[in-house]
Amino acid sequence: MHHITLIPGDGIGPEITEATLKVVEATGVEIKWEKVKAGEAALESEGTPLPENVIESIKKNKVALKGPLTTPVGSGYRSINVALRKELDLYANLRPARSYEGIKSRYQDVDLVVVRENTEDLYAGVEHMVGEDAAESIKIITRKGSERIVRFAFEYAKKEGRKKVTAVHKANIMKYTDGLFLEVARRVAEDYPEIEFEDRIVDNMAMQLVQKPELYDVLVMPNLYGDILSDLCAGLVGGLGVAPGANIGDEYALFEPVHGTAPKYAGKNVANPMAMMLSAVLMLKHINEEEAAAKIINALQEVLKEGKVLTKDLGGQASTSQFADAVVEKIV
Ligand code: NAI
Repeated sequence: MHHITLIPGDGIGPEITEATLKVVEATGVEIKWEKVKAGEAALESEGTPLPENVIESIKKNKVALKGPLTTPVGSGYRSINVALRKELDLYANLRPARSYEGIKSRYQDVDLVVVRENTEDLYAGVEHMVGEDAAESIKIITRKGSERIVRFAFEYAKKEGRKKVTAVHKANIMKYTDGLFLEVARRVAEDYPEIEFEDRIVDNMAMQLVQKPELYDVLVMPNLYGDILSDLCAGLVGGLGVAPGANIGDEYALFEPVHGTAPKYAGKNVANPMAMMLSAVLMLKHINEEEAAAKIINALQEVLKEGKVLTKDLGGQASTSQFADAVVEKIV
């Protein structure tokens, strides 16, 4: 029996979570969910968007599945997502992008994974004004941070039977920061002779991804490039509604869809639960329930290929729960 923390989240979160739980349950995998509230849901009932018991629960169970949480723009509380990543040292952000027959997109054969460093770079938050008319942000790249993210990418490639890792950087211009990242990547690559290694300059990478995404496999990069290119990759395969994600550290792992709370669809039973279902698939693989993960992928593929029960964003008329029922029906 696996014990896993469940944060249904705000907006469409509870609906896509319910749909996902149905599908996970249908695989027969034994999971005891520990449900906790965060975000707006917690602010209303407990007076804080990130109650202590959320962190405690994840620290105890080591694994969590999470729906999207509201982050107020400008004022209000800080992003709970960022707080969770910091508190749990979830340094690797995993963003797979894969084409599915039946989902409209410009490409058919994309199957790549962006591994984004999640704690350093220009996102370390070391920023200040210099006088009144200038501002400065410090880009932080460390040997330790680079080493663990590149190693994570290679270990992931090994586990998933993937063939190639591409390091993405701008070391031609930022010779110290990105230069260090690239130097570390080259060295770590030597420990994995069975996996091909190459590097690309980030601007060239953006063009190549649009021209021939099928040539790429696992991409590893510092925080800022990862933020931008992972959304580009989601766009290659059908957008936010189908983009899963994971935030992983040495001790804890948090699985969540890339999209937000989609407030205009909240409570209407129309949102696409696929990104959340695919995040649950990543979670199942992480806890070594490969068979259950494969069952969900196969069922999703069949539903999409048939094209009869699709949510609105995928061009159909089905509700969130109808889509979930269709997937459950295909699970054998
Ligand atoms: P969003 O991802 O919620 O919405 C962007 C667009 O995609 C909207 O048109 C939305 O309706 C659509 N969309 C998103 N998910 C969908 C789904 N599953 N099915 C169908 N359509 C879907 O991003 P937005 O509007 O920028 O943010 C809304 C709220 O979500 C904000 O409070 C933001 O801070 C939060 N957010 C939370 C995230 C998280 O918890 N990981 C990630 C991104 C945003």
